[in-house]
Amino acid sequence: MEYQEIYRLTKEWAYEAGEILREAVSQEITVEYKTSAADLVTEKDKEIEAFFANKINETFPHHFLLGEEGVASNQADYDPHNEIVWLVDPIDGTTNFVHNKRNFCISVGVFDRGQPIVGVVYDPMADQLFHTLKGNGVFIDDEFIKPSTMAPTSEQALISMNHLWLAPNEYLHEQPLQKMATDIRGFRCLGSAALELANVAVGRLDGAIFIGLGPWDFGAAYVLLKEQGIHITTVDGEQIDVFHPSSVLTAKKELHHSIRSNYIRTKK
Ligand code: IPD
Ligand code: CA
Ligand code: CA
Ligand code: CA
Repeated sequence: MEYQEIYRLTKEWAYEAGEILREAVSQEITVEYKTSAADLVTEKDKEIEAFFANKINETFPHHFLLGEEGVASNQADYDPHNEIVWLVDPIDGTTNFVHNKRNFCISVGVFDRGQPIVGVVYDPMADQLFHTLKGNGVFIDDEFIKPSTMAPTSEQALISMNHLWLAPNEYLHEQPLQKMATDIRGFRCLGSAALELANVAVGRLDGAIFIGLGPWDFGAAYVLLKEQGIHITTVDGEQIDVFHPSSVLTAKKELHHSIRSNYIRTKK
């Protein structure tokens, strides 16, 4: 069955790519600016994305890859909703990779005609692999992570956010996070959206609220979160189009509803 094979190989390739990154943290790395000094790319981002592009092309020549660094941009025009598409972030948390040499990951999500199939997030420094094949449950390494039945309230909630909330943004006039910050137990801002979203899927965080993400940032974790039955929508509460940039709000149903109704009042 092709899905099983995709799952097996995604995990195998994530481990291989992780080994390259573990070695890279003790080497000298060339860092370039993309759009600004806050938007970094290294030769390792490109190398790992090319690694996945080659593996996918060799093994599944009829599949498509959508990656942050665009190494596969020579692919012909295609409709992602009619194909098998791999959403690949070769390093999610490049700033952490450059500065802290930890708290970054490789994120790979596979979708078949828009349906989530495989989600793999590998944290190479912690050597932890978050993974799922649709219908088979979520695992960290070999440990099955049972979906938790707890329904945290706002005051019990630990929620991840990204720093873009502090920059001018379309939600700012409502100052949603200021009120939320006084109500909830705590905010966390790790700098790797994929890892933070994976942590929501395994119950280490209660929710996450991000703006300005790309498909490669949330693709793999989207599969993990859906598998756990955890709500994942745009900040406006709409369905996410996984092939386009999006805001992301994820939490269990009750907390998701409470965040939407108490703190985010935007278009509706
Ligand atoms: C970034 C990280 C960061 C998030 C940014 C992303 P990158 O990804 O996930 O946490 O706030 O929006 O672009 O560039 O390190 O792959
Ligand atoms: Ca980047
Ligand atoms: Ca990313
Ligand atoms: Ca990246």
